[in-house]
Amino acid sequence: MTRKKRIGILTGGGDCPGLNAVIRAAVRTAIRDHEMEVFGIQLGFEGLLTGSAIPLTSESIRGILPKGGTLLRTTNRGNPFAFPTADGRCEDRSKEAIENIERLGLDGIIAIGGDGTLKIAQRLFDLGVPMVAVPKTIDNDIAATDYTFGFMTAVAVATDAVDRLHTTAESHDRVMILEVMGRNAGWIALYSGIAGGADIILVPEIPYRPEEIVRTIRDRQIEGAMFDIVVVAEGAKREGGEESYVDKSSGRLGGIAYRVAEEIQKQIDLEIRVTVLGHIQRGGSPIAFDRILASRFGKAAADLVADGQVGQMVALRQDTIVSVAIRDAISNPKLVDPEGQMVQTARSLGISFAEGR
Ligand code: F6P
Repeated sequence: MTRKKRIGILTGGGDCPGLNAVIRAAVRTAIRDHEMEVFGIQLGFEGLLTGSAIPLTSESIRGILPKGGTLLRTTNRGNPFAFPTADGRCEDRSKEAIENIERLGLDGIIAIGGDGTLKIAQRLFDLGVPMVAVPKTIDNDIAATDYTFGFMTAVAVATDAVDRLHTTAESHDRVMILEVMGRNAGWIALYSGIAGGADIILVPEIPYRPEEIVRTIRDRQIEGAMFDIVVVAEGAKREGGEESYVDKSSGRLGGIAYRVAEEIQKQIDLEIRVTVLGHIQRGGSPIAFDRILASRFGKAAADLVADGQVGQMVALRQDTIVSVAIRDAISNPKLVDPEGQMVQTARSLGISFAEGR
């Protein structure tokens, strides 16, 4: 009797609503359409070093579709090419990872992750590991795909926050500054700012000027609007300035909303309050759009492994799921175009980006 084809699935990097929906769809497709066996590798690529793999069956994935997080757990410290040692160094343990893949008898691995995970997947593929990738990031900053799952859920959460801040801002005549995620790309700020009717949106791609924020607030006061909503992406920076870090050595961004408040407070006569939304944007149940996109990605990834089309990443292009070389996907981030249609739409709605003129 011939052995069933066996695939592994792992989730790497930060979590994101919809990971479980991808896992579920890939497992179902692998079992139902291709009669393959599926193993879940735990804690991202780290599980390849510890040999931590569990069988995934129709029973084990039951009920996970609406759940946030990842059944397989994840980490952004599991890179087998630069694995952290106890004494703070990094060592290349990729050979061990490949030996474990062989020991587990995996004929293909589906890696679900963002930029970092995709880069590791490409390096393993270059060493002969049959990798297929599924793009994941709430930042939606991968150019090869129109959307990544999790993004629209993050936008929905951020928009809800803008709506809630609106009513309290109006009641108190206050400037409300909402800090949302978005390291290099300001998509969450841009989408939620438009959806929530913000007055000012600050994104990493358009360096801001504090005096322009002040000008917008004063202009609105002249028009009789005594409150303002500012949505700022965590990676935004002022013209000629730097990003704001919670911890620069680890690269953790945070605190730009407080910095903006400080920069404008002395020049306006309205009170300012700051809200940092943080990981609330990443947790919880995915909205329907993300569940559907994640399910489509999971199915397509299982099909690619079954067909032996490895080194590929699934992507959404004009409402069709396609596959692209992982290599091409990692070299091309998708950033907000300061002259693009979305920014122009925001401008026409009266939203300021506080950029230099
Ligand atoms: O890349 C997704 C993201 O949520 C970024 O927007 C954010 O900067 C980062 O991850 C936060 O990472 P962590 O969960 O490790 O703090």
